[in-house]
Amino acid sequence: MEQFVIKGGKPLYGTIRVQGAKNAALPILAATLLAGGFHEIRDVPRLSDIDVMDRILRALGVKARWDGNRVKLETSTLKTTRIPEVLMQQMRSSIFLMGPLLARTGEVIVTRPGGCAIGARPIDLHLKGLRLLGAEIQEDHGHIRCSAGKLTGADIHLDLPSVGATENIMMAAVCAEGETVIRNAAREPEIVDLQRFLNRMGADVHGAGTDKVVIRGVRQLHPVSYEIIPDRIVAGTLAVAAVVTGGEILLTHVIPDHMQSTLQLLERAGAQLKSEGDALWVRGGARLKAVGDVVTEPYPGFPTDMQPQIVVLLSLTEGKSKLSEKIFNGRLKHVHELIRMGADLTARDNQVEIRGVPHLSGAVVEATDLRAGAALVTAGLAASGTTHVHGLNHIDRGYERLDATLQLLGGQIQRYHGKVASL
Ligand code: UD1
Repeated sequence: MEQFVIKGGKPLYGTIRVQGAKNAALPILAATLLAGGFHEIRDVPRLSDIDVMDRILRALGVKARWDGNRVKLETSTLKTTRIPEVLMQQMRSSIFLMGPLLARTGEVIVTRPGGCAIGARPIDLHLKGLRLLGAEIQEDHGHIRCSAGKLTGADIHLDLPSVGATENIMMAAVCAEGETVIRNAAREPEIVDLQRFLNRMGADVHGAGTDKVVIRGVRQLHPVSYEIIPDRIVAGTLAVAAVVTGGEILLTHVIPDHMQSTLQLLERAGAQLKSEGDALWVRGGARLKAVGDVVTEPYPGFPTDMQPQIVVLLSLTEGKSKLSEKIFNGRLKHVHELIRMGADLTARDNQVEIRGVPHLSGAVVEATDLRAGAALVTAGLAASGTTHVHGLNHIDRGYERLDATLQLLGGQIQRYHGKVASL
């Protein structure tokens, strides 16, 4: 099994261009199915989740040709509407194929995605939206068959502002007859990016970024060339790593506006920040201050995907903070590992009480999910001594060569397979 071995205590310095956003790329790759022909998508991060999406598209008959972070997709060769179960189980985001396949062919067959490490993740809102658009949904032993002779616009209220359900319904509705309104829609920047992509293909969607998205059905879409937005969570993770190591970094290819809640929190904790255009300068240095209460919320609130990394930062402040995880049940597994590194934390009922300590110490820890893994790497960079982070398969789902990125910033991190030599 692979592991990162991190020799901590070294401030990060340097400049990094941030990768394209995984959470924008996944629905956009699925949405290419809406229009047959040759698409070109640029700035797609090379991650294991993207590999799974690539394999699903190929299994459906799409031809894909990669050149670095650019992929050319020929989607007119679609040959099936059944997503292989084994791929479906590897990535929850495979449910993004439902909307586009239903819209293009009138049918899609998937298997229900399993639970995951950050808690139960139902898909009832996705299915409710597709039903309201006219799809008939039959479920048998975990196999879900969605079919529709014709999709018709509908007024859909989401009980929760689900990112994935908003995106899936947008993709299903672009060629439906008439107008669809999604109320209580999620407002994440990745939804705005999907709207921009769909409109480039000839769709008529507006309102993304607000809680009401309106989609007027069009007859046909055409293939396009498109560039994915920067990843606000990767940028936030690197910013936290710079701050907790007392370093100074310049991030390029960022949209600081997408990161406001994270940046405000870093500033309250004592980090120095400056942004100009698509660049963000971040500096740590002085002893960090506690920030009181932090609550994860749908965008533009503080993102759940930054929660584990912020727990690391707050663990190293002077004073007490409290963090409440309001989006996912059971997304606190990193707390136990951080306690083993010397953090003073108490977790109960999706809340963590954090009493700051002057430093963390290296330990052998296990990443149980993607962002927990990013948090443990961040903690390892700040800690004294050596940290071994296992469970790299989770980290590779969302960070493109995280070890190489951190090495460029002077971080002492190595990826090992099997037996470990000392650094
Ligand atoms: C997306 C992001 C993920 C992020 C999350 C919340 C992608 C690929 N992933 O996940 O990184 O952590 O948003 O910002 O974009 N829910 C239901 N029923 C549903 C759907 C969701 O009850 O049908 C609940 C979920 O269990 C969760 C909440 O709604 O409690 C928000 O989930 P959602 O916004 O759907 O997250 P994802 O789209 O899966």
